Amino acid sequence: MQSVPATVPLQRWEDLPGPRPWPVVGNALQVERDRMHKQLEGWAARYGRPFKFRIASRRFLVISDPDTIAKVLRDRPDGFKRPSRVERISREFGFLGLFSANGETWKRQRPMVLGSFDPTHIKAFFPTLAGVTGRLARRWTRAAQSGATIDLQADLMRYTVDVTAALAFGEDINTLESNEDVIQVHLNHVLPALVRRSLAPFDTWKYFPTREDRQLQQHLKAIHASVQSFIAGTRRKLEEQPQLREKPVNLIQAMIAARDRETGGLRDEDVSGNVLTMLLAGEDTTANTLAWLIWLLHRHPDALQRAAAEARSVLGGAVCPAGPEQLWRLDWIEACANEAMRLKPVAPLIFNEALRATLVEGVRVERGDIVVCLMRAGSLQETNFAQAQAFRPERWLAGEGAAAHSLASAKRVVMPFGAGPRMCPGRYLALAEIKMAAAMLLANFELQSVATPGVDEPREEIALTMYPVGLQMRLALPAAASM
Ligand code: HEM
Repeated sequence: MQSVPATVPLQRWEDLPGPRPWPVVGNALQVERDRMHKQLEGWAARYGRPFKFRIASRRFLVISDPDTIAKVLRDRPDGFKRPSRVERISREFGFLGLFSANGETWKRQRPMVLGSFDPTHIKAFFPTLAGVTGRLARRWTRAAQSGATIDLQADLMRYTVDVTAALAFGEDINTLESNEDVIQVHLNHVLPALVRRSLAPFDTWKYFPTREDRQLQQHLKAIHASVQSFIAGTRRKLEEQPQLREKPVNLIQAMIAARDRETGGLRDEDVSGNVLTMLLAGEDTTANTLAWLIWLLHRHPDALQRAAAEARSVLGGAVCPAGPEQLWRLDWIEACANEAMRLKPVAPLIFNEALRATLVEGVRVERGDIVVCLMRAGSLQETNFAQAQAFRPERWLAGEGAAAHSLASAKRVVMPFGAGPRMCPGRYLALAEIKMAAAMLLANFELQSVATPGVDEPREEIALTMYPVGLQMRLALPAAASM
């Protein structure tokens, strides 16, 4: 995307449609934070595409077209960045890491994170991943035996945080088998607070902190204590085994080694900010995607039956896949995951701040304006997908529901992991976790119920990531099964 010279005739911002702003605060009081994605999707249908809104003096342009979205996302880091406000508030929380950093800080960190989460590392990590999945299987076996109701998201977040800590920090925190006050209890307060403050018209918490603000400080304190203990543990290991500084085996080792090298360019706060970033980025995203997938499968018995048959046949009686080759053979489960991410993307909004004047869908965007990408809009359009609202995993299988060209166009429209230079570095890990946990569940248990009590469909809410509210699961063991 090119910078726009001031002389080019442009669509005027003032002429764009959008909800009527109030004096001073703009649309801040109309924005419903916990369902903002639904609200923006609704406004896009009502006002047209693109449309604008405003929070105090901050201007937002909302776009829905997948090709324009991809262009904006690819025009980083030079044309767009993560919003300055997200960067500043993350820094205040001590969580300025790859997700919220910009500029040189982001550039220095990105290769290290990419390297630690690449497919080769995920392959080498497989035995640990299988071990953590086995713990989830034992937890669910106990629930099935006692007839207990499972809080699906909470259990899945134990799984994802245990996996991330093992891969990125070499730590076996084992929250799956703990009855203590687990770190997730504290982590779950951070992202909602980040969203709340990022969308606030003014920094009121600095002058009039509420009870919620004071509690947040306690949660952050508890999290930072854990982060510091991961860092201290890694430092001890690096002292015992100095060769790890040259050949680090995980992200935290790579970052501490870079921090200690004169040319490494990393500071203490970059290391701790990224430890927290990885915990947060790997927690709800993958857990929520799994929760939506399990719910969708339970609602579609044919797809469920086929997924369970595939899992049983590939696992051949084992509790979970025994090697990466088995994961690759779970084609139908992968298609179901892709379809779940099309219908229920856990990152339905991506916010980008313009670094220079530029044209987006014929609208002149100024430096500092925020372009909001509505990531689900294209996925639900009949022009892109026949029966776009329906769960049809076969669209992701060439030769079944999908011709090669329609598969390519589906991949162009559906971007659950974002696009361009800031695309999710955790995607290989996420897909491995999703296929692993889904195969384990389907091969070993019968889904008795997966539902939110009292409603037909769980409500979608968003706190940076979008999740199903109140999803509960009940499992049964096939006769004579034991783990
Ligand atoms: C199903 C699971 C996941 C989904 C749907 C997801 C989605 C996303 C999306 C949409 C972005 C923004 C991309 C962009 O701006 O273009 C992102 C960024 C990121 N994700 Fe994920 N993610 C998932 C799992 C993970 C995991 C497991 C980790 C690591 C443990 C992770 C780490 C990150 C990081 C560090 C970034 C920031 C990258 C950057 O700005 O350079 N994600 N993710």
